[in-house]
Amino acid sequence: MSDIKIKITDREGVSHEVDAPTDMNMNLMEVVRSYELAPEGTIGICGGMAMCASCQCYILSDHQLPEKSDDEEAMLAEAFFVKDNSRLGCQLHITEDLDGLEVELAPEEA
Ligand code: FES
Repeated sequence: MSDIKIKITDREGVSHEVDAPTDMNMNLMEVVRSYELAPEGTIGICGGMAMCASCQCYILSDHQLPEKSDDEEAMLAEAFFVKDNSRLGCQLHITEDLDGLEVELAPEEA
């Protein structure tokens, strides 16, 4: 299997079911960008370095995800709109374990 399905609710509340490749070393932020589910310049600002939180999303499904790194923890501690289920999309690598994942993009930081 090389594609998984991910359900992404954009910032307008519209949900999209997209195919994400597991063999292209992508992360969730890059998937959102590749489907243009958030306007250019509002997501992935730091390029996936866990330094901007523009890729924050809420995990809605019951998936077992890899632990947050210290960098991700630190960024989420400073970000706005953080909830218990917040993660940085750029820190979530697309693997088969994420098949069926459901996420919602966090609001854009002002
Ligand atoms: S893209 Fe900047 S923290 Fe994820």
